[in-house]
Amino acid sequence: MPNELPIRRVAVAGATGNAGKEILRAAKQRGLFVRALVRSPHKLQEARDFCDEIHTVEITDPVSLQGSLEGVDALISAIGKTFQRDATPRYLVDVTANKHLFAEAKHSNLRCIALLSVFMASTAHPVALLRYKGEAEEALKQTGLPYLIVQPSGFFSDMWEVFRMCERGVFWSVGDGTALFNPVSLIDLADFLVDRLLDPSAHNQTYPVGGPDIFPMRDLAKIAAKVLQKPVRVRQLPLWLCRLFVSLSRLAGRNAWELAQFFVGTVDYIQSHGNDGSTPSIGTHHLEDYFRQRYLKQNLRD
Ligand SMILES: NC(=O)c1ccc[n+]([C@@H]2O[C@H](COP(=O)([O-])OP(=O)(O)OC[C@H]3O[C@@H](n4cnc5c(N)ncnc54)[C@H](OP(=O)(O)O)[C@@H]3O)[C@@H](O)[C@H]2O)c1
Repeated sequence: MPNELPIRRVAVAGATGNAGKEILRAAKQRGLFVRALVRSPHKLQEARDFCDEIHTVEITDPVSLQGSLEGVDALISAIGKTFQRDATPRYLVDVTANKHLFAEAKHSNLRCIALLSVFMASTAHPVALLRYKGEAEEALKQTGLPYLIVQPSGFFSDMWEVFRMCERGVFWSVGDGTALFNPVSLIDLADFLVDRLLDPSAHNQTYPVGGPDIFPMRDLAKIAAKVLQKPVRVRQLPLWLCRLFVSLSRLAGRNAWELAQFFVGTVDYIQSHGNDGSTPSIGTHHLEDYFRQRYLKQNLRD
């Protein structure tokens, strides 16, 4: 039975992240009262303007979270350890901290919890990072509160790193690059998530989402070349070599290994399961436009 009371006040955990900042914007644009839960308020930068309140918390410490959700109707968790270099174990962020947040949400009897997860997340997945997200999803469902799970494909913001590689003239492809996928704009993703949060009939569902353009991964080089107006060569790293690299990355510690395993393991998994890693399309933004705008901005700055 959908909860009919409207959601007017939201708290966003992970508000300083790429996705988190865009979620703040989407929430504010829909007239919501917005509370950001962050560890370093200065990292909000211009997104500070979308916040009515900023609470400084340590999401890995349940005591620090006490009372942080009082007075809000819903929680959006966009936390996750991606490229953060601090020594905090990824599991502690992706699973344990989410569990702390969910317990606090239950304590405050919120009307909905939204979790930004990742495409293919599952407790049974061979890739550790996807298993952690799957575990967080299960913990969310076990709260018994209305929930929303969004499982996005790669973000445009992460594809920017690929663009930077292409600027140097070469695209290094994990495997042959034929696996299909559809990266998604953070604007489209945040709008989608907040709209579903505000619609009780959309709750208690899991939404895998990607952008409107589905293409083989190696076409990232073509898109970048078009924007750069110069050729970009595609060089293939055979999967056996990538797997070897993943094994060696263990020497750099678990966090580094998990990240390497994520990048190689997801491609490996998609290639051995029909080579189609695309997800249902949402939104109107295109990667080529994103690259062009960001490249232009970068050139103006330099
Ligand atoms: N990037 C992608 O392509 C992609 C694709 C699909 C799904 N996702 C998922 O979407 C979520 C958000 O991604 P994103 O790209 O926005 O990530 P991001 O920019 O790295 O932001 C992650 C957020 O989590 C917080 N965080 C990380 N470690 C923390 C710690 N030890 N203590 C406190 N806060 C911590 C960060 O705080 P600080 O700013 O203080 O570090 C930041 O607010 C993640 O769960 C990710 O797995 C990402």
